[in-house]
Amino acid sequence: MGIRARAFAQFAGQRASAFGVAALGAALLTLAMTACGDTPQSILAPATRQARESNALLGFVFWAALGVFVVVEGVLLFALWRFRRRRGDALPRQTHGHAGLEIAWTIAPAALIAVVAALTFRSLFALAAPSAADAVRVRAIGHQWWFEFQYPDLGFVTANELHLPAGRDAAIQLESVDVIHSFWVPQLRGKTDMVPGRVNQLVFRPEAPGTYLGQCAEFCGGAHAQMKFTVVVEDPAGFDAWVALQKQEAALPASAAAQQGLQLFTTTGGCLACHTVRGTPAQGRIGPDLTHVGGRGHIAAGLMATAPDQIARWLRDPQGEKPGNKMTIRQLTEDEITALVAYLMGLK
Ligand code: CUA
Repeated sequence: MGIRARAFAQFAGQRASAFGVAALGAALLTLAMTACGDTPQSILAPATRQARESNALLGFVFWAALGVFVVVEGVLLFALWRFRRRRGDALPRQTHGHAGLEIAWTIAPAALIAVVAALTFRSLFALAAPSAADAVRVRAIGHQWWFEFQYPDLGFVTANELHLPAGRDAAIQLESVDVIHSFWVPQLRGKTDMVPGRVNQLVFRPEAPGTYLGQCAEFCGGAHAQMKFTVVVEDPAGFDAWVALQKQEAALPASAAAQQGLQLFTTTGGCLACHTVRGTPAQGRIGPDLTHVGGRGHIAAGLMATAPDQIARWLRDPQGEKPGNKMTIRQLTEDEITALVAYLMGLK
């Protein structure tokens, strides 16, 4: 081996390890930036076959792109080093064009893109497969700024908290009543838009019980960032129990304060103009159905926990808490708020 060849081999070895470190660093940085691991809104922690499908495609494209980057930058840096100008160098022989190289760097990317295209089509078809016959059907309707979930086969409506059984397909029909929203539960399935005047379909099968965070993923106005929801996946028995509860009409007030709250809700409080509480005169359809709001984890599309102090804060100033939302109410007294909180907390 000549001196130059040895130097080159040494150089190539150093380069390779430098690139190895750089590639590893880039991969770790990417994982850190996309919040990998057990974080509840990571696409890198897929929990359905459908989410794994997209994740596998993403992984292939990422590693292929990283490979291309390393090879191209490696050749470039090698050429810069190897053919750099040295003291006393004359202008080298000028060449233009190299048929073999031209063909190689046309065919290689085309072949890689063809593989990516083939895998993409395979994933698209896999994700477009219709749901199983026993799928739980849900109409998910986007509103500024909350999610309505209707269970047409089961006969009830809820909001911002989607319950599904593990081990069965969920067939979600996506709609919107105002502007374009997007339904996204990163661990369960890629995002799909909710478009006014259009119906989109989404199928996924949750595998394990758990709580998965969802989020509107299309800018839809001032409180877009406050348009969240949760997907609660339960074992079949737990889901059936939840369904049985949701089918029931609202609980009767269990205290004098709650009784006063119901009274306010359906008369001078004005709540009934926009909200439904089944079993009471309140049949409004503008805001979330509150029949079982006390049993949900959050109010105001994930903005606050369903807790007395949080609901009180919301009732004091809904516009201050979530500017621009459609809930405009008169200023309530603290006594009225206490009564309404008692009533709403009792709607399990
Ligand atoms: Cu709805 Cu963003």
